[in-house]
Amino acid sequence: MKDLFNLEGKVAIITGGNGGIGKGIADGLASAGCDIVIAARNEDKTARAAQDIKERFGVRVLGVNMDVSREDSIQAGVARAVSEFGKVNILVNNAGVNIRHQPEEYTVEEWDWIMNVNLRGAFLCAREVYPLMKAAGGGKIINIGSMTSLFGLAKVPVYACSKAAMVSLTSSLALAWTKDNIQVNAILPGWIDTDLTRSARRDFPGLDEFVLSRTPVRRWGTPEDFIGAAIFLASDASNYVTAETLRVDGGFAQGTNTITFAVD
Ligand SMILES: NC(=O)c1ccc[n+]([C@@H]2O[C@H](COP(=O)([O-])OP(=O)(O)OC[C@H]3O[C@@H](n4cnc5c(N)ncnc54)[C@H](OP(=O)(O)O)[C@@H]3O)[C@@H](O)[C@H]2O)c1
Repeated sequence: MKDLFNLEGKVAIITGGNGGIGKGIADGLASAGCDIVIAARNEDKTARAAQDIKERFGVRVLGVNMDVSREDSIQAGVARAVSEFGKVNILVNNAGVNIRHQPEEYTVEEWDWIMNVNLRGAFLCAREVYPLMKAAGGGKIINIGSMTSLFGLAKVPVYACSKAAMVSLTSSLALAWTKDNIQVNAILPGWIDTDLTRSARRDFPGLDEFVLSRTPVRRWGTPEDFIGAAIFLASDASNYVTAETLRVDGGFAQGTNTITFAVD
């Protein structure tokens, strides 16, 4: 039987793939045989991640300097990937930023920055790879959302808007591009231990206790927790799955019920 989860011969671009969840996903896809393009801004961090993946998984890895808030940078980065590997089969829209404070304190510049990286960048990356995927006879796009795709959060209103819109973008792209055999899905992480949330833990005392008490599996997630979901959504195993959102959250979205009625 064909190995549904095999990614040998495929090429994936992972934005923000040099650390955190993106690196976990890059490791996962590489472990299934996929060649990897890490697209991010910090060149040292990207070079270290690329070296690590090459050594551990023996696949081809290219680091490209890409700022997803800039259209020209996305175009140049995708062109570089194509000149190196000749194609793009998988796109993971993972790059994300956040600023945390009260809604009334946000500036226009802060709104634009968060939206441009998290949402517009994902759209522009998808638009850029679409003709390549179409020419290849299909492809896979994985958008990284958040629990704020489902719930509001008082001190991250702009981030939450961007992540809620990621789900809408996922549905629309999926519907538009079924004709081209491109499946578009979203992963919604719960609370994951990365640089992004380490700063939140510093800024918000009590966050650690909140996450541990509210998450039914009683731990923070790790980048490695995304490997299975990413391989599934990047591989033939998910060919009849599109416009879907997959929570990787340790049950967080159901947490209130679990905590309320827990007997242990
Ligand atoms: N950690 C969580 O609990 C959590 C929960 C829900 C959703 N998420 C989402 O998961 C994704 C990854 O987050 P993370 O927790 O792994 O955070 P992280 O460790 O801070 O990683 C963010 C990545 O995005 C890249 N990035 C930021 N701005 C960029 C830009 N303009 N262009 C290209 N790349 C850019 C960064 O690389 P450079 O700085 O080198 O560019 C970095 O690799 C984000 O979309 C985040 O919103 C995280």
